[in-house]
Parts: sequence; C-alpha cells; structure tokens
Amino acid sequence: MFHVRGNPAKQKGGINMEIAVRTRCPYTIRIQRGILKQAGEACRERFPKGNRVAVISDSHVFPLYGESLLSSLKASGFSPVSFCFHAGEASKTLSTVEKILLFLAEEKLTRTDFLIALGGGVTGDMAGFAAACYLRGIPFVQIPTSLLAQVDSSVGGKTGVDLPQGKNLVGAFHQPALVLIDPDTLDTLPPAFFADGMGEVIKYGCIRSPELFSRLETGNIREQMEDVIRACVEIKRDIVERDELDTGERMLLNFGHTLGHALEKLHGFSALSHGAAVGIGMVKIAQAGEAAGITEPGTAKRIAALLQRYSLPIDDPADLEDLLDATASDKKSAGSQIRPVLLRRIGESFFTPMPREEFRRFCAGIKPSSLPDTSAPTCKLP
Ligand code: GLY
Repeated sequence: MFHVRGNPAKQKGGINMEIAVRTRCPYTIRIQRGILKQAGEACRERFPKGNRVAVISDSHVFPLYGESLLSSLKASGFSPVSFCFHAGEASKTLSTVEKILLFLAEEKLTRTDFLIALGGGVTGDMAGFAAACYLRGIPFVQIPTSLLAQVDSSVGGKTGVDLPQGKNLVGAFHQPALVLIDPDTLDTLPPAFFADGMGEVIKYGCIRSPELFSRLETGNIREQMEDVIRACVEIKRDIVERDELDTGERMLLNFGHTLGHALEKLHGFSALSHGAAVGIGMVKIAQAGEAAGITEPGTAKRIAALLQRYSLPIDDPADLEDLLDATASDKKSAGSQIRPVLLRRIGESFFTPMPREEFRRFCAGIKPSSLPDTSAPTCKLP
C-alpha cells in the first residue's frame, strides 16, 4: 500500500475501495475488479428514482463491454439507450457532441435522467461535455476503461472537445455523479495504451509521491493495479478538492504537459501518444531544472529509466525552437507567460509563471532570473 497524503480511502475487505471527492458537487469513486458487471446496482444506489440512462461509448469499447453494461442496467430497472461513435481522438469534436445532443433530445432524456461514459479519455471528456450542455446540465457517470482515464481524466470534472487549433480548447467543468473503475478492463487494453497511461502514473509519482515512484521502479505493477490506481486517484482528488477550477495547485497535474502538448502538436496529435509526449516533456523539464540548479541532480535520469521500464520513449528529435514555438497556442500559457511545472526532487513540485523568453533560456539550461519562493508547496497565481 502506498502512503499518500489526505483522507484515507474507505476499504472493504481490502479489495473494494471507495474514495470520496468533496468538490462543489461531491461524488464517490469506486475501484473494484468486476464492478462493470455490477454497474446497474451501483447506479441504482446513486439514482434511486430515475430509469432513463444513455450510455455513450465508442466503436472499440462498446463491443467489449456494452452488452454487459446494458444487461446490468436493465437488471436494476433502468431503460438504457446507447450511442456509439467512431473510436479515436479525431472524433473528439463539436460535431460528435452535436450528434450526441441530438440523440439525447430524440430520446427525450430529461434532467432526472443521466449519461454513462463507457470508455477512455475521449469518451469521458465528450460524454461529460454533452452532459454539461444538455438541458444546461444533467448528471453523468464515468466508467473509464483505459489506464489513462482511470488514473486521470475520469476524475476532476474536466470535460470538453478539441478544435482544429488545439486539444481541449472548448469545455466545461462538470463533475461526474459517480466514477466506477474496473481494473479488469485493463486486461483488454493493447500494450501501447497501457504504456500511454503509465506516462500519467509516473507523473503522479514525480509531482507528489516518492513512494509511488519507488514502487514503480521496483514492483510488478500489473499485480498491484488497484493500489496504483488508488494512489494516483487520491493524489488527484486531494489536489482537485483544493483547486477545483484549476487556478493554482491543480496546474501541478500539468507536469511534463507544456512541452508534451507541444510535441503532440508537432506530431499532428496522432503519431505520438499523450503519455509518451508527457514522458518526454517530464524528462526535458527535469534536465533543464537540473542544469539551472533547481532540480536535484539525477532526477531526469531516474524519470527516463522509469519511462523506459514501461516502454515509453525518453526523447524526440524535434528541434527545441520548433517545440517552443508550438507552446505558443497551448491553453496552459497565460498571455506572454508560460507556466511550467518544475521539480525540486521526485515527489516535490511547484510551478512558476515565466515570460516566454525566459522559458526559452530555461529550456537551454539557464536559471530563470527570478523564481518564486521554492520552499512553498505551490505557487498561487494572482
Ligand atoms: N488532467 C489534468 C487535470 O485534470 O487538471
């Protein structure tokens, strides 16, 4: 078991885990092998009265788990309908959301009904956004089936879609009513998608948990998936509870993402996975931090070794200038400022707004002229 800060999760029999999230609309995250087959019961506990539910899924996940979910919902007295879109990031558009909204309207869903997002990050983000918009907001349940969605995107209420100009440029904060995480679904995940999620898992170790990081360095992670997912989710829960709307501490979750998103953009958002790009971004920022005397020496090497252990790349031939240019349209920048997340050491992170030119020098290994009080846990934006 990893030690993480914050509220201890409630455990039943050491296998079923319930994690309470105290955001403006509080909800529960349940982590349990096989819970997908009992999703109807779990939804009935959460929605004692309603009976209409729309399952939103994609062409890859629905054939694997759709029928089982629909049967479980029917067995608990729900009348489910389902909408399936073509799997992949290319579908994460306003046009797909419009199709989902038209479907919900045709099916005459009302505010007492709810959606279920069954799938990976694309499905969760898009179904969540449709739920945030339809009738100005109806509840939705996250049933994430990819590692990336289980440890990151299903928790915290960020929903949205991409625009041709960049990823996640349109969206809304809309917390799920319930999150059901079934680690058994990772068994059908292709190895490249598992590695993709490991990029985010390693990120959690880097920003908050030396224990998690060490365990990833030595343990057989496949045998400890519930604990690994729980450790990540608890770190994210603690951060989101303190900064639900992403105005301060939550930005720590963007460690590796400033350069990572730029890399994804240079690769046309398809040739390099999100987790792979974030991994390279983490190594580059740690290297720059070490060169500038901010980050403990050896940190970048440890991160790189861990990424390699989980079949993730540690470098990319992209030119640094092109990479820095590609950060310009990133939504993580603020005007002429960029807000990179830096490490003091594994498990200790902070972020510091810096002018774009200064970030350029920093990436070239030159210490920024002014740093915030780096002994503070985070840096709050004005
Ligand atoms: N994935 C980063 C966040 O939820 O803030």
